[in-house]
Amino acid sequence: MKATHRLGAWVIVACCALARGASGEPQQPLLDFYASEAKATDPAFSGFSAQRGEQLFRTHFTTGKPDTPSCTACHTTDPKKVGQTRAGKDIDPMAVSLNPKRYTDQAKSEKWFGRNCNNVLGRECTATEKGDFITFMLTQ
Ligand code: HEC
Repeated sequence: MKATHRLGAWVIVACCALARGASGEPQQPLLDFYASEAKATDPAFSGFSAQRGEQLFRTHFTTGKPDTPSCTACHTTDPKKVGQTRAGKDIDPMAVSLNPKRYTDQAKSEKWFGRNCNNVLGRECTATEKGDFITFMLTQ
């Protein structure tokens, strides 16, 4: 009985340490993925910046679709607010404090970075831009 208990506790610790990533954030695995991509493609890469991420979030671009010049066109200027698609459907807040599941599913994040960066910037976002964006949203 005692041994089973101890094993159970160990399994719980091991599972959660893995799921939460090295730094304790569930977003860390995706940040690590973008960091390794950034290092491979950008020799000047020296870490992500929340400030650059905020700039990406707020900048109005002229290179994408005219009706979506910025991320804020759908996600609003406040990452803590519920956004809206062009068709008027609600989008959950982007801020991790309000929406802890954000940026924990690589396939989902990649799908939406792909679609939204192409709409807004008229190109894919770089790995550095994606990491910056998530780093900013972790502060929100
Ligand atoms: C045309 C509207 C629209 C614009 C503009 C837009 N988004 Fe989004 N975004 C969405 C929708 C819709 C979703 C998916 C619904 C959801 O995740 O709640 C989404 C989800 C995301 C996700 C997925 C997050 C996760 O849960 O992993 C990321 C990342 C994202 N957007 C980044 C951006 C960035 C960066 C920009 C600006 C370059 C941007 N979005 C601009 C509509 C938009």
